[in-house]
Amino acid sequence: MDSLILARVIHVLAIVLWIGGVAMVTLVLLPAIKHFVEPARRVEFFENIEGRFAWQSRVTTLLAGGSGFFMLMQTGGWQRLSQPGSGWLHLMIVTWLIFTIMLFVLEPLVLHRVLNAQAQQNPEATFRKITRLHYVLLTISLVTVAWAVASSHGFIF
Ligand code: HEM
Repeated sequence: MDSLILARVIHVLAIVLWIGGVAMVTLVLLPAIKHFVEPARRVEFFENIEGRFAWQSRVTTLLAGGSGFFMLMQTGGWQRLSQPGSGWLHLMIVTWLIFTIMLFVLEPLVLHRVLNAQAQQNPEATFRKITRLHYVLLTISLVTVAWAVASSHGFIF
């Protein structure tokens, strides 16, 4: 198998695990917590479970970024980003940057502390905020996947 195909396989597998996990958290875990856990314990409960998923997300984000940049360099490099119709490449990189900053910087250094402090004051509003954030991230991710699949197979936006 040539290295470009292998990189594409790794890229798509990483995206499936990573965005699939985001969908699972957003569409299954958060609604289940809202339904079964009392308001005061929701944020703590959520953080305990999501903490386990954070490592999977970090690894798959690195794999997706590594394989993505490898493919980009093999198929024209940075020049591709300035060509007309390359919006989907930009969107992939922006989506990746948002998650990378969240997972490697904001979540461990800021979010964890701030959300726990807010949850002490107003647990329901904090849980709603977490839920909204996940819906926004899932929407951006799905738009990125849809646009990337269509564009890499010939669709021009
Ligand atoms: C550093 C970030 C990323 C870079 C540099 C990157 C780069 C690439 C490149 C070069 C391709 C192959 C395009 C071609 O056909 O020539 C590709 C494919 C693709 N990427 Fe990314 N990507 C990145 C992140 C993402 C993210 C965050 C997503 C989704 C959320 C994503 C989803 C996809 C999909 C679905 C394909 C098409 C696979 C196929 O249909 O064969 N990528 N990416």
